[in-house]
Amino acid sequence: MSGNYIRIFDTTLRDGEQSPGATLTSAEKLEIARTLARLGVDIIEAGFPAASPDDLEAVRRIALEVGHLPGPAGQPPVICGLARATRSDIDRAWEAVQHAARPRIHTFLATSPIHMKYKLRLDPEEVVEQVREMVAYARSTCADVEFSPEDAGRSDPEFLYLVLGEAIKAGATILNIPDTVGYTTPDEFGALIAGIVAHTPGVEDVVVSVHCHNDLGLATANTLAGLRAGARQAEVTINGIGERAGNTSLEEVVIALHTRRPVFNLETGIDTTQIIRASRLVSNYTGIPVQPNKAIVGANAFAHEAGIHQDGMLKHNETYEIMRPETVGLQRSTLVLGKHSGRHAFRVRLAEMGYDLSEGELTEAFARFKELADKKKHIADADLAALITDQLYQPREVYILDGLQVACGTMGMPTATVRLTGPDGQQHIQAAVGTGPVDATYKAIDAIVQAPNTLLEFAVRSVTEGIDAIGEVTVRLEAHNGATHQRTSPQSGQPRPRTFGGHGADTDIIVASAKAYLTALNKLLVASGRYDAQVEAEHPAVVAAQVVA
Ligand code: KIV
Ligand code: ZN
Repeated sequence: MSGNYIRIFDTTLRDGEQSPGATLTSAEKLEIARTLARLGVDIIEAGFPAASPDDLEAVRRIALEVGHLPGPAGQPPVICGLARATRSDIDRAWEAVQHAARPRIHTFLATSPIHMKYKLRLDPEEVVEQVREMVAYARSTCADVEFSPEDAGRSDPEFLYLVLGEAIKAGATILNIPDTVGYTTPDEFGALIAGIVAHTPGVEDVVVSVHCHNDLGLATANTLAGLRAGARQAEVTINGIGERAGNTSLEEVVIALHTRRPVFNLETGIDTTQIIRASRLVSNYTGIPVQPNKAIVGANAFAHEAGIHQDGMLKHNETYEIMRPETVGLQRSTLVLGKHSGRHAFRVRLAEMGYDLSEGELTEAFARFKELADKKKHIADADLAALITDQLYQPREVYILDGLQVACGTMGMPTATVRLTGPDGQQHIQAAVGTGPVDATYKAIDAIVQAPNTLLEFAVRSVTEGIDAIGEVTVRLEAHNGATHQRTSPQSGQPRPRTFGGHGADTDIIVASAKAYLTALNKLLVASGRYDAQVEAEHPAVVAAQVVA
C-alpha cells in the first residue's frame, strides 16, 4: 500500500445508525454492508455489539457474510466492532467480529478535561491506566486494535501524545483522533494531527486516523486537513449521517481527493461509480432524505437549471461542471420510456441502470411500470429507481397494504378506508375520520395494527418535476412502550429508545404516506419480537444494481 493511500473507514452502520430514526433491520444492515464492500471501503464499522443482542447478531452476520466478500481490489473489507474500554464490551465486540477474515476491535476512552471530570469521573492517570489495560486486553484476542481518545478535539495535545504512546505500547495498531463534538477548525485540527504525528512515541508503526463531526459544518474540511497533516485513514458515513449534525460524508472526502488530486496527491480504493447507488440505498433504508443541495449526491448537485449555466454547459461542460456525473454513477439516458414501451425496452433500461431482475421480479416490476405509465406520460430514471426501490427494498412485511380509499376536501370530514393483509393472511378493513386524509389513513391503520406510537417526522417530496410526479414519503416514529426497544448508547452508556423510519413512493401521495407508515410500523413490530425477526432474503437484483438519477 503506497504512503499516499487513504483507508476509508465507513461508520454508517455504527455512528450513522446513531442518527435519530436511522434504526435499521439486520437485513438492511447486511445489504448496506454488501454495498459498502462493493464500493471498496477498506473498513466497515458494523456496529456496537454491546448495545443489544440484536446489534451483536447483526455485526456477527456481517462478519460472517460480508467479511469474506472480496472488494474491488480483491480483498474482503476489515469488519470492525466498537467497544467502550471495558472487558465486557471488548468480549462482545470480539464475539461478533471474530468471524470475519479481517476482524478489528475499536475501543475508546475520553481524554478531554470536561469528559474525564464529568463523564468518567477519572483522573488523567486513571484514564492512562485504563487505556493501557483495555488496549492490551483487546489485543490479547484480536490482532487489529483501534484506539480512539474520545473528544480529542478538546483534549490537551501533550496529554494525547502520552495516552496514544501508551496505547501503541499496549498493542494498538490504529490511532483514531475524533473531533467528537465537531468543535475544531481545519487549521486547529490539521495542527493537532501534525502534532500527534510528530510527537507520539512509536507513531511511525501505526496508522493515524481522523473522525470528524459536522456540528459547525466543518467535518469534511477538518478531515481533509487531517489527511494533509499525515493521517492515512478517514472515518466517514454515507450521506454524512450521524449523531446531531452528522459525520464527515464519504462522498465528499472521496470526490474531493479525486477531483483535486494534484492538490492532495492522495488516493483511495473507492469505486466512485457506486456512490449514488450507496447514497440512495442508505437514504431509503434509514428514511433520512438527502437534501437537494447536498454536495455530490443531492438531486441538484449536477443540475444546471439557470439559462446562463445551460448555455455555458452546452458550449463546454467544464464551464460549470468540475466533475462528471458519470464519476459518481449517474448516467444520462436517451431512452424515453412511456405508456407504449414494451417489456423488452423496460428490461434494457433497467439493465442499463444496473438492475438485473429475475423473471418473476421483472414481471412484477413491469406490471407496476404499466400502472405508472397510465398515470404519467414520461417515465424518468428516477421514477424507475423509486419503483424498484419500492418493490425490492422493503423490510419484511408483517402487514401489507391491499387497498386504500379516501374522501377529503372542504365539503366534509376527511375519511379513509384501509384494507390490510395481516400476518395471519387475513384481510382487515377499517375506516377512520381524521384532521386530513393522511391523519385519517394513519388512524385506520392504527386501529388494525395496534402498535401505539408517536409520529416524530413526516416528509413528502416529489421524485421528478411535473404534476404527475411520483411522491416519496418518509416517516419516523417511536413506540409508546419505548422501554422494550432500547439499546445502550456507546458515548453516554445510557439506554436510548429506538425510532423507526419508513419510506414509500407512489403517484398518489396518500398511498405513499400509507406505505411509508406501514414500513415503519412493520419494523417496530419485528423489533418488538411480536413477529419472527427472520427478515427478507438477499435480493440479487439489488445487489447488482446501479441506481441512476
Ligand atoms: O465521535 C466519537 O468520538 C466517536 C468515538 C466512539 C470514536 O464516535
Ligand atoms: Zn463519532
